[in-house]
Amino acid sequence: MFNYLPKSNFLEHKTLLVTGAGDGIGQTAALHFAKYGAQVILLGRTVKKLEATYDDIVQRGYPTPAIVPMDLKGASESHYQGLAETIASQFQQLDGCLHNAAVLGDLTPFEHISKASFDEVMQVNVTAQFQLTKALLPLLRHSTPAHLLFTSSLVGRQGRAYWGAYAISKFATEGMMQVLADELGNTNIRVNSINPGATKTAMRQKAYPDEPENIPQKPADLMPLYLYLFSEDALHLHGQAIDAKETDNLKLAKKPQADRLNVSVPAT
Ligand SMILES: NC(=O)c1ccc[n+]([C@@H]2O[C@H](COP(=O)([O-])OP(=O)(O)OC[C@H]3O[C@@H](n4cnc5c(N)ncnc54)[C@H](OP(=O)(O)O)[C@@H]3O)[C@@H](O)[C@H]2O)c1
Repeated sequence: MFNYLPKSNFLEHKTLLVTGAGDGIGQTAALHFAKYGAQVILLGRTVKKLEATYDDIVQRGYPTPAIVPMDLKGASESHYQGLAETIASQFQQLDGCLHNAAVLGDLTPFEHISKASFDEVMQVNVTAQFQLTKALLPLLRHSTPAHLLFTSSLVGRQGRAYWGAYAISKFATEGMMQVLADELGNTNIRVNSINPGATKTAMRQKAYPDEPENIPQKPADLMPLYLYLFSEDALHLHGQAIDAKETDNLKLAKKPQADRLNVSVPAT
């Protein structure tokens, strides 16, 4: 397990957006980011779950978060643009986004995957991330430094039978991370992906309904790593496909510098 002792309040004056902040890893990450001083924007589908995360953060005396109820399955370009404009006007800045929300779809033989199920998984796990990232980039360019962390999976790095649309969507997530990392190599924005590994959440329960209760790790066990990745100690990490179980070399990796396009974007 990754060991990291963050400085207290190291995320003070930072604004971080977390998708899927009402449950599982996203809920725990939002709580920990707030614990270390961040103003967290909680994006998710189920309002009650977002409100529970909100209440938890407020009751602990952490900075008051914001709630953005959004179903990534149906959100359109104007929703993402509207969100970016709201963040700009209410928070004046965005320092990072944890792309965490995802659906599992159907674990089934390839020929049994329905088009509807495939479309939903790709919409939530890939298209929504693309649209949200596109809308947020102008804001992120004004923050120094900024971090985009995509959430992948083991099956997004090595295909596996019956993991169909979910695995394909995670390969696309890795591709999106790599394209962005290459484009943004000489900018203030770092881009990485993380495979959290087997973690006790609703999604894990759906994938492995018969798994014994004493399952591997809990979302809280991942938090030293998530906090590290959003800290200034991880500024050298860029374009990395990080595995929560393989963190030995993390602190040695270097930000790639060669052959990057340095696109200058006018201030908005
Ligand atoms: N748990 C694991 O073992 C594991 C392993 C590898 C990778 N991962 C990845 O880790 C990330 C977090 O997964 P988790 O295990 O924490 O799963 P989870 O507990 O099921 O949480 C998923 C989150 O995504 C949100 N979400 C789903 N569909 C949405 C939609 N259409 N619009 C907005 N939000 C939506 C959910 O909101 P609602 O609760 O409101 O539905 C929930 O907050 C995912 O990207 C997953 O692929 C997990």
